[in-house]
This record gives sequence, structure tokens and C-alpha cells, in this order.
Amino acid sequence: MSLEIKNLIRPHLLGLQPYSSARSEYSGDGILLDANENALGSVCGGSYNRYPDPLQKDLKAKIIHWLNPDLAIDNVFCGNGSDEIIDLLIKAFCRPGEDEIMIFPPVFGMYEKCAQINDVGIHAINLTDDFQLDIPAIKDQINERTKIIFICSPNNPSGNLIHTEEIKIILDSFNGLLVIDEAYIGFSNARSWVDRFQKYPNLVVLRTFSKAWGMAALRLGIGIGAPEVINVLNTIKMPYNINSNTIELVSKALSKPEVLKEMVDKIKAERAILEQQISWMEITKKVYPSEGNYLLVKFQNSLELYGFLKKKGLIVRDRNGQPHCNGCLRITVGSPEENKLLLEALKEYEALFINSKPA
Ligand SMILES: Cc1ncc(COP(=O)(O)O)c(C=O)c1O
Repeated sequence: MSLEIKNLIRPHLLGLQPYSSARSEYSGDGILLDANENALGSVCGGSYNRYPDPLQKDLKAKIIHWLNPDLAIDNVFCGNGSDEIIDLLIKAFCRPGEDEIMIFPPVFGMYEKCAQINDVGIHAINLTDDFQLDIPAIKDQINERTKIIFICSPNNPSGNLIHTEEIKIILDSFNGLLVIDEAYIGFSNARSWVDRFQKYPNLVVLRTFSKAWGMAALRLGIGIGAPEVINVLNTIKMPYNINSNTIELVSKALSKPEVLKEMVDKIKAERAILEQQISWMEITKKVYPSEGNYLLVKFQNSLELYGFLKKKGLIVRDRNGQPHCNGCLRITVGSPEENKLLLEALKEYEALFINSKPA
């Protein structure tokens, strides 16, 4: 184990062995009378009576084949959504009541929520007003309690990529874990940080099957990192955190990259249409360019517009109140039919808005 990672893990976890489940003790064929399963089958049909592989080895091999063949199985962790991985990272590396994570709002809310649940401090440094890292403030404020820095790129809700060179500055100077959450990278042409993980032992990259792959209900997130990091996550996770259905269906999806590409291309094309059409409207102050499957838009009267859309059954996300997001709604790119309805409703609101202006 490299000295730095060993020194970062919470000390009481260092010698801990993972729970020894039946399927981790024996995973071959045979008459399985070791796990108190129901040998007759499943009431729901199908063969769900057997516990799944606790380490999802076959699935991880397929993920590696898709993501980067230079990865080894012990570089990959499968979580019940990336949400679970965020929680486990904080659990493994941050001492409650002592350590803290660093986040850069406006950003995805689960880093903060998981820290709160684990009684871990939150050091928030707002992104700059062009949604990039405030490097001088970050360098100044990293301290011995800072154990994990979370960067979201493309950033949710602003949609932009965080500059590579600035992430490198942090990676080169920070002794804790740097987590880059690439939940939306599938909608971007940018190079993934997965390709650079070997150079930085303290880098963890999060990916998810919830967005571009369209499999949010199945709950599969993946964490890529050094074996020492992955090992401690495997030690503290629940024994069977990924269910058989998910393993089976994600494995199937991984053999269909052409379907992924087709869906992503469609969503990108729809994103471009929405971006263009909304940016022309009089109610629009700014559409932020996005590399995700959503657009952050600053509107005139955003709260009134939010209510107007909601009454029509069009639900978007109000991001007022988040740093640099006053007047902003985050709009997920929908299907072509949904986007058409959204644009019609926006045009209707625009007409009301224009008519209500003093002549
Ligand atoms: C940036 C970001 N990371 C992670 C997640 C959670 O992903 P998962 O469904 O894999 O838990 C989301 C969900 O919206 C997100 O926006």
C-alpha cells in the first residue's frame, strides 16, 4: 500500500477484514446449502433466489473492456449508484467530527448531504462566476482536515467542464483524495479522467449508468481508483450491494454501444435545439453552454415561469438560491415531443410577458 493512501484511510479500518459472506467464501458450482437461500426458486419468477457475486467480477471485466482496458479489476468499484460511492468514500476517509470535505458550489448536493450524515465538515468555496475553480482560494484554504475534494465535471447544474489544467494544479499539490464526478461525461466529447488515473494515486473518478446509459432505476455507479482506495471501499460496503438484475441488464447494455451512441447523439441534437430556441426568447437572460443532458438558463421572472410550467405539468428544477444561479432554472433535455411541449409553453409565457410590459 502506498504510504499516502494508507495514511488517509481512517485508522480503525486499516486492519479490518470485509464481512465473509457465503458467496465470498465459495463462488463455484455445487449444491449450494451455505447461504440459507430458498432452493425452490423465487415467488416473482426468474432465478432471483441466489445471492449475487459480492464483487461483481464478470460485470467489472465488461466495464473495463468498455471504459479502459488498462484498468484492472482492483481499480474498479461498483456502487448502488454513485451516491453510494460518495457516501462510502466519506465513511472510509473522513473522521466524524474532525475531518472535512471540500466542495465547489453550485454543485450536485449529495457530497454535502453525505458529509452531513457522516458528521463530517463541509468546506465550500464557490466556483468563480464563470463556474470554474477559484484556485487561489482553494490553495489557501486546503488544510490538514481536508481529506476529500469533490469536483463535478461536467458540473451539475452549470453544465460546463472544469478546466483540466486547474484540476492538475490541485492534483499536484493536494495530499488527500481528489474525486472527479463524471456523471455527465457521456454527453460530452471531453477526454475522461479515467485515462489519467495511473498517474495520480489519489484520484478517484466516478461514473454512472444513470445518465447517458439511461439506467437510473437499476442503480449502478462506478468508482475508478488506486487498488488501496478500492480495497477499503470493498471492505466497508454491504456484502451484496449490487443486485442480480442490475448485473445482468448492465452486462447486456455494455454489449450495445451503438444504442448508447444513438441515444446520446439524439439528446445532444435536442440540447442544441433547446439551447438555440431558448436563447432567442425575450424571457431569457442567458443560456449557459452545456456538456450535460440539461441546460442552466437564467430567465426574467424565473419563479413565476417555474410555477407557469408546473401548472402545465412541465417540471424543471429551480436553482435560485445556489451561488451564481439567481434567476436560473435547470432544464433536463427531454424527448423530442417533450421538448416541443416545453418550447410551446415557454413561447406562451413569453407572449404573456411581452404583453404585460408597459408600452
Ligand atoms: C453530478 C452527479 N453525480 C452523481 C449523481 C448520482 O448518480 P447515481 O444515479 O449514479 O447515484 C447525480 C445525479 O443526478 C449527479 O448529478
